[in-house]
Amino acid sequence: MTHKIAVLPGDGIGPEIVAEAVKVLNALDLDLELQSAPVGGAAYAAHGHPLPEATLKLAMESDAVLFGAVGDWKYDTLERHLRPEQAILGLRKHMGLFANFRPAICYKELTHASSLKPELVAGLDILIIRELTGDIYFGQPRGRRVATDGHFPGAEEAFDTMRYSKPEIERIAHVAFQAARKRGKKVTSVDKANVLETFQFWKDVVTEVGQQYPDVALDHMYVDNAAMQLVKEPKRFDVVVTGNMFGDILSDEASMLTGSIGMLPSASLNDKKQGLYEPSHGSAPDIAGKGIANPLATILSAAMLLRFSLGLEDAAQKIEAAVQKVLADGLRTPDIYSEGTTKVSTREMGDAVVAALQA
Ligand code: NAI
Ligand code: MG
Repeated sequence: MTHKIAVLPGDGIGPEIVAEAVKVLNALDLDLELQSAPVGGAAYAAHGHPLPEATLKLAMESDAVLFGAVGDWKYDTLERHLRPEQAILGLRKHMGLFANFRPAICYKELTHASSLKPELVAGLDILIIRELTGDIYFGQPRGRRVATDGHFPGAEEAFDTMRYSKPEIERIAHVAFQAARKRGKKVTSVDKANVLETFQFWKDVVTEVGQQYPDVALDHMYVDNAAMQLVKEPKRFDVVVTGNMFGDILSDEASMLTGSIGMLPSASLNDKKQGLYEPSHGSAPDIAGKGIANPLATILSAAMLLRFSLGLEDAAQKIEAAVQKVLADGLRTPDIYSEGTTKVSTREMGDAVVAALQA
């Protein structure tokens, strides 16, 4: 069966890093059909919109999207709906991407780059799964009004609504348990059940879903404690599943454990296992066009694409092993360079991963 992949390079370093990931995908002997389309500022410049109809159509009809990054200061003055980042929001919405995967992996060769002690992060491999379409970020009603009660009746106030429906929690819980099955067989559900009704409900529903996965261990942790444990003993986690807001914060915290933004992949999936795969970093306009961007986050995103959307676990592992090999060989783009290693360009790094795959 041919798998269709939409390739959306975007802005800044996007085209440079995506080219390397495409090279890696093409080096595997897989039945893939890759098709590119403009997105973000590049699409606005060419077609007057950050997410042109044709690009959206291509993405919707694909099994997965390989995405670079969007954004540049030169588009900051555009009206909100024309700005590059609207492309991601539009794709998330139209594709129904409710599950955001952010692995935090610390390769032992790169522990020096982490903000934590090497012994705490060496070999770290955890996966944070954030619910992406619900919670207080999207809950209605929201707005501003004059308070009629509370501490200051008559004062101007603002409010948002935290809410989760049972099916919303169930589907993200299933995603987490299924992901854990392929890894360390442990899920930690992060909540604030002691204070919030929404998250007591979250905890109840995750527990109920967990009964269908007797082979996966489930524990629960309050979000404040989770924030602490992530820096105290990050290796205690395997899969962490949480709501949109807590996940937003914890996934950024976890990314800093690894120390290198150029190494971190991410994925956003819907209930058909269709997904958008992109590096966690942005378009890095400061280094665009210089050939020094680290392509590994994008290459590792392509590995996630094979694993989660196409079910090609072996091929995903081959890419990850190849990345590990080039790091072990001492190859480094400038962002992860340290004394005694070999500095390479974006393209040289991509070529080295391809060579490691073929070795
Ligand atoms: P950024 O992640 O693009 O860059 C932050 C710093 O990390 C910069 O110094 C950059 O040079 C460096 N960096 C990032 N990726 C790198 C890589 N692969 N190799 C080596 N160094 C790398 O974040 P920033 O500067 O806040 O945003 C730049 C633009 O990217 C903005 O327009 C922003 O809106 C956009 N952005 C887009 C995202 C997306 O497409 N999903 C996510 C985050 C930001
Ligand atoms: Mg991104």
